Amino acid sequence: MKKKIAIIFGITGQDGSYLAELLLNKNYIVYGIKRRTSLIHTTRIDHIYKDIHLKTNLILKYGDVTDFSNVFNLINEIKPDEIYNLAAQSNVGVSFELPEYTAQTDSIGTLRILEAIRILDKKRKIKFYQASTSEIFGNSPEKPYNEKSKFEPVSPYGTAKLYSYWMTRNYRDAYSMFASNGILFNHESPRRGENFISRKTIIGIIKVIKGQQKCLYLGNLKSKRDWGHAKEFVYAQWKILQHKVPDDFVIATGKNYSVKDLINLVLKKLNIKYAWKKDKNNFEYAVALNNIGQIQKSQIIVKQEKRYFRPNEVHDLVGDNRKAKKVLKWKPKINFEQLISEMINSDLKKII
Ligand code: NAP
Ligand code: GDD
Repeated sequence: MKKKIAIIFGITGQDGSYLAELLLNKNYIVYGIKRRTSLIHTTRIDHIYKDIHLKTNLILKYGDVTDFSNVFNLINEIKPDEIYNLAAQSNVGVSFELPEYTAQTDSIGTLRILEAIRILDKKRKIKFYQASTSEIFGNSPEKPYNEKSKFEPVSPYGTAKLYSYWMTRNYRDAYSMFASNGILFNHESPRRGENFISRKTIIGIIKVIKGQQKCLYLGNLKSKRDWGHAKEFVYAQWKILQHKVPDDFVIATGKNYSVKDLINLVLKKLNIKYAWKKDKNNFEYAVALNNIGQIQKSQIIVKQEKRYFRPNEVHDLVGDNRKAKKVLKWKPKINFEQLISEMINSDLKKII
């Protein structure tokens, strides 16, 4: 049987690497699109990459979703069966500092791919997956969020992603394209970027124990997130494109925890005894109650700092995954505690 061909925009990211593994295991030919960078950073996919001169089902190509001619030429040359658009400036906090670049990548980038498909794929054979996000719900009042909930994004990132969500739906309706949105809630893994809260907390606290930094500085501890495992969430991405009709799906665990819950869990797993206190500005900090590693009793090990707060915040995200469970037969199995344990164990091996 002819092998399916997939393009992954954003293959060097967390999800791109897990999705590439999944598709290769399913015998796809995978074209991974990576950006030109001054230092090569393919660490997340090095274990599956083989020299291009050998026989391989993973081919890397340079590309950037801010360049229409490049996107057009890639799709024209590769003639894929499936396209996964995971490419994005994906950090919500950073999107307040880079709003225009975020829009170029996270909004117009999607439009460029959709337009290329519309022009090139007259027979409407290509299936398109858009990496949508729970950030499009923002602080919309009715929770848990499902496919029919109101969208009220509160960041340049969420707003840019909402444009892509609607464009994906519009191209599906207007041009009969197989174009689907996966509205994914937060998902983490040992491969998570180091400046997202889960990984930042774990790396930071391990470094404090090892004496490589004195304290971990963070922003808002009150916000809540519905955290799942990236490996399970990319399986949902693939399932969305295998469904018989294009559609939009919420992918979530259905349980959420606060940032403070996350920190408490990491401290507990690393056997640190501590107490939370407040300073005169009402910022919280955690003080060690025992000597452990390089930590001295009474040392401030975690502290809130103004610079890590965002100009606007999504307070409480939790998803209703019933449609995905029923229609796609997708169900998450890894719980929050197992996820964080896996990430801690991985970073304990890396930080020496
Ligand atoms: P990630 O680790 O930040 O990966 C993003 C990928 O996009 C990287 O490969 C990055 O390349 C690439 N990229 C960035 N700008 C690009 C551009 N202009 N042209 C081409 N590629 C570009 O993000 P992730 O966690 O894997 O998430 C994957 C997608 O799902 C993103 O679209 C994200 O917004 C969305 N999403 C993520 C979550 C989550 O919790 N992880 C939840 C909902 C939705 P570099 O490696 O060169 O930076
Ligand atoms: N990154 C970060 N760094 N977040 C912090 C910090 C800090 O120092 N201190 C507190 N937080 C809080 C943020 O304000 C936010 O409320 C929460 O921790 C989670 O932040 P992130 O881990 O950066 O994730 P996010 O929820 O903003 O965005 C992620 O999930 C979205 C889906 O809901 C990203 O993966 C997005 O790409 C994704 O769409």
